[in-house]
Amino acid sequence: MANAIKFFDLNTGAKIPSVGLGTWQAESGLVGAAVSAAVKIGYRHIDCAQIYGNEKEIGEVLKKLFEDGVVKREELFITSKLWCTDHAPEDVPTALDRTLKDLQLGYVDLYLIHWPVRFKKGSVGFNPENFLQPDISSTWKAMEALYDTGKARAIGVSNFSWKKLGDLLQVARVPPAVNQVECHPSWQQTKLREFCKSKGVHLSGYSPLGSPGTTWLKGDVLKHPILNTVAQKLGKTPAEVALRWGLQKGHSVLPKSTYEGRIKENFDVFDWSIPDDLFAKFSEIEQARLLRGDSFVHETFGSYRTVEELWDGEI
Ligand code: A2P
Repeated sequence: MANAIKFFDLNTGAKIPSVGLGTWQAESGLVGAAVSAAVKIGYRHIDCAQIYGNEKEIGEVLKKLFEDGVVKREELFITSKLWCTDHAPEDVPTALDRTLKDLQLGYVDLYLIHWPVRFKKGSVGFNPENFLQPDISSTWKAMEALYDTGKARAIGVSNFSWKKLGDLLQVARVPPAVNQVECHPSWQQTKLREFCKSKGVHLSGYSPLGSPGTTWLKGDVLKHPILNTVAQKLGKTPAEVALRWGLQKGHSVLPKSTYEGRIKENFDVFDWSIPDDLFAKFSEIEQARLLRGDSFVHETFGSYRTVEELWDGEI
């Protein structure tokens, strides 16, 4: 197959497929068909999370894909994430068990602490009165226990600044394999990328297209003139170029779509490349974080009074 998927190495010795299907905001009733289409197209990585509210539907489809012999479990790379309400060490294994039950799987390939943020157990939404102080090192110990059992074949974090990742690395027995963060041409994560590289932590990029469908975000990543000029020169779409840029930077990308045509388009990124002179132009793109995490900060409650504190100044 011309567009056979490529992989990146994890510090566990496992390989992570360089393109995965994102499932954040993939609606019930559509997400299952999207996963099925993606696997048939050749995707081998599905990025899930309990908070996305769609793991049950994904589980149904995975079961069918296995039963129909479309793909084997061991050929897939499934990621899920621990929500902020389940940071207490005793709640961590229960949360993974719930996810495994919903996904109808015996293990996930990667389990991530979704945010360096803790909410009261069982709370719903983002009411600041439910914000608690996170204790990442004790949550991480519980994550390490899941790694030891094999229910999570790799463990990692998401939305961690280089500072918070560094603090975790100081205390971790099992170092995080991945930090999954927002990453696209308009938020390139230059400092975090260097830090991750120096520590052997793989960077995985969510919202690699800048989440154009998220109305409350003000990004126009796919409309950027540099991206469009490069796309025009190469005869590719801006989405393809944004994803290919990510692969050439060395991180995996997790584009979300529930349309088969786009799922296919987003996978057509392996048998061509952006030449050096055009690749260099991406460094001219002005930088702005789109997903600032305002809902996770509060002047009185929780750990972070401002978004600057949440990201340790990297905004
Ligand atoms: P849809 O699911 O309707 O296809 P990101 O992965 O950066 O979060 O972006 C996801 C958003 O981008 C979704 O709104 C998705 O819409 C849209 N999208 C996915 N693939 C493409 C594409 N190839 N071109 C344009 N928009 C896309």
